[in-house]
Amino acid sequence: MERRGIQSIFSWALLAGLANLANVAWGHDVITTKITFDREIIRIVHARCESCHREGGSAFSLMTYDEARPWAKAMQEEVLERRMPPWGAVKGFGEFRDDQALTPEQIELVADWVEGGAPEGEPKDLPPVAAPVPPAAVPHGSQQLAFSGDYKLLNSLKLSGIQPQKIAGDSSFQITAELPDGSIQPLLWLQPYKPAYSHPFWFRRPVSLPRGTVLRGVPQTATVNLLLAR
Ligand code: HEC
Repeated sequence: MERRGIQSIFSWALLAGLANLANVAWGHDVITTKITFDREIIRIVHARCESCHREGGSAFSLMTYDEARPWAKAMQEEVLERRMPPWGAVKGFGEFRDDQALTPEQIELVADWVEGGAPEGEPKDLPPVAAPVPPAAVPHGSQQLAFSGDYKLLNSLKLSGIQPQKIAGDSSFQITAELPDGSIQPLLWLQPYKPAYSHPFWFRRPVSLPRGTVLRGVPQTATVNLLLAR
């Protein structure tokens, strides 16, 4: 009788201990970081994710803690693998500015925030609400020239960028300029590209193309817009 008593006290203690552990592991995360959503992470989301990840954007919203928290682990993975924010083109083929990539510091902040339990922080740290500005959008009234398939320039022009227009999902193609002297200039290699990733590609410096240049590589079924420099 006495022995059973001791045994059941023992198992109760064990059960209580397990329940406690479970609570820590699954109930609420242990917070081991000072980085918070409201102070650091929302600012990164605002600068680099919001153009797509917002209410009415091309992907699910990450703009509030409640919306972002279920995605924390995936956010860490996507930024560490450099899959987000998506560029949709091969880097080093053509020279572009504002490639939207996160800095190593920003990647570390996201990764450490998630490792440390992805805490919310305090609303007082939230940035003032700013109107969402799609990064590097094509300015209103800028001159554009749409084309499909190979395209020969009848006039010289100065390109400031390229905007994919009508392109099937998961497309991959290289756009090159064949200059009249026979030299080939790489312009843009879309890959892996999805319409939901659409954004203008702005060249680091405007690209001058003489009359007679042939632009090659765009499929007949696709349309791209040349963004012309003034
Ligand atoms: C140019 C648009 C765009 C930007 C900018 C962008 N995303 Fe995405 N993201 C998408 C789209 C579209 C999807 C849906 C899946 C797909 O098509 O790849 C997605 C999917 C995701 C996913 C889910 C991946 C999975 O597990 O399926 C995560 C997490 C994510 N994005 C995080 C981010 C973060 C963090 C940023 C900013 C640092 C960011 N994204 C910036 C367009 C974008």
